[in-house]
Amino acid sequence: MEKVFIFDHPLIQHKVSLLRDKNTSIKEFRELVSEISMLMGYEVTRNMPLKEVEIETPVAVAKTKVISGKKLGIVPILRAGLGMVDGMLSLLPMAKVGHIGLYRDPETLDPVEYYCKLPVDASEREIVVLDPMLATGGSASAAIQFIKDKGVSSIKLMCLIAAKAGIARINKDHPDVEIYCAAVDEKLNEHGYIIPGLGDAGDRLFGTK
Ligand code: PRP
Ligand code: URA
Repeated sequence: MEKVFIFDHPLIQHKVSLLRDKNTSIKEFRELVSEISMLMGYEVTRNMPLKEVEIETPVAVAKTKVISGKKLGIVPILRAGLGMVDGMLSLLPMAKVGHIGLYRDPETLDPVEYYCKLPVDASEREIVVLDPMLATGGSASAAIQFIKDKGVSSIKLMCLIAAKAGIARINKDHPDVEIYCAAVDEKLNEHGYIIPGLGDAGDRLFGTK
């Protein structure tokens, strides 16, 4: 059984449908990725711990709550994960941002690393890895391993469309990592593309095809 949280909120489902449409313009595509990321981020942060504080309002002292516990960091997988950063930062403007550069070898579909820079205090943070597409799961699994190798123990993976194979791979390689996505698709084609998916997320975000 797959372990994954699927966001079935109507706004998210509607926006994912627009994202899949091949006629959606680059401008709309970028906006949609950002908007869905923000809506998902709202739920992904639902369990952040709170602590009680006292705040002086203009008329009295209020016992009220603020976020406590581990600070958050977000790590987009380049390139396509970059499209999700703004949406998350609009909720979490103080979050630190790391970057992991990976591309899939088109023949083997294995991830090839070309960049990794994480916040110096990453090991003290809860890290949310961002990538719109979870296909074979090879890229996300490698990215999560890099992050673990830097001493991070608390990691979540947030993607927009996940293939069943990718979910199974992350569940197997990293059973401690919770996966959040907006849609689960059945299969991959012979080139490792998610079917029906939305095509190549990086190319659609950056206009490279
Ligand atoms: C895409 C996507 C993921 C990866 C998913 O990146 O953004 O990182 O493929 O595939 P996987 O689950 O089979 O590893 P891509 O390699 O196309 O690089 P890009 O973002 O630079 O275009
Ligand atoms: N990467 C993408 O951008 N799209 C897919 O369908 C699979 C991997």
